[in-house]
Amino acid sequence: MPGQVIDGKAIALKLREAIMERVKALKSQGILPGLAVVLVGEDPASQVYVGHKAKACQEVGIKSEVMKLPASTSEAELLALVEKLNARPDIHGILVQLPLPKHIHEEKIILAISPDKDVDGFHPLNMGQLFIGSPRLVPCTPYGCLKILQELGLDIAGKQAVVVGRSNIVGKPMAALLLQEHATVTICHSRTRNLSEITKTADILVVAVGKPNFITGEMVKPGAVVLDVGINRLPTGKLVGDVDFSSAAEVAGWITPVPGGVGPMTITMLLFNTLEAINYARK
Ligand code: GUN
Repeated sequence: MPGQVIDGKAIALKLREAIMERVKALKSQGILPGLAVVLVGEDPASQVYVGHKAKACQEVGIKSEVMKLPASTSEAELLALVEKLNARPDIHGILVQLPLPKHIHEEKIILAISPDKDVDGFHPLNMGQLFIGSPRLVPCTPYGCLKILQELGLDIAGKQAVVVGRSNIVGKPMAALLLQEHATVTICHSRTRNLSEITKTADILVVAVGKPNFITGEMVKPGAVVLDVGINRLPTGKLVGDVDFSSAAEVAGWITPVPGGVGPMTITMLLFNTLEAINYARK
């Protein structure tokens, strides 16, 4: 029997309604949540993502300030802007859209963002807190994946979880979150041998490799929960994930589509983190 398709949009909508209520309550206490989104250069995909983030903020009542800087911006100029945003009491969250132009050292910028305003959860302090089991601000995409599992009421404790991809943005924090929820976690990557033997052991399979249709139905355990983080545009213009949806859906118990699966959850968790960051703001 084909697996059930997970409606990420519907889950995101439900969470956003709760976020909207929290924003209303904060406003009644005189607090207007503020998010700064910084975009350097003209990367077309980044421009689209930043636009979606600003629109989502507006929809729930969070104030967003999008700052678009030319690709020629120097590292020192970007660091100076981050410092200014760190000091602004009306800005609770700071997001610098990645990737940055090659002449800017990403790690330096991530380190410069105050860990208290780091709504991406990329700062080593927040990443470290996650890995020692005391999460603070958690990276949005893996957090969204966790919320999907929780909202569907799917058990994580004791399950075999396999994460394909070891990026700092998704794979590593995803593994830490699943471990925190008591799954037995394996991380696979480009040098992994016998990948399909490992993926076939997964009760929960999270795929974030950036390769269209990389995981096929034969690599999936019958009944598994498959979360597809990939967003790839084919030369035909079609948007596909890292999982070959049609073959995997025949085998999986639950599966996220692309688009409409993990994607809407990522921005939802950014909104959530912006409200969480208010708790870390210096009074
Ligand atoms: N580029 C792709 N995904 C992300 C993300 O989650 N945060 C930031 N800052 N940049 C990204």
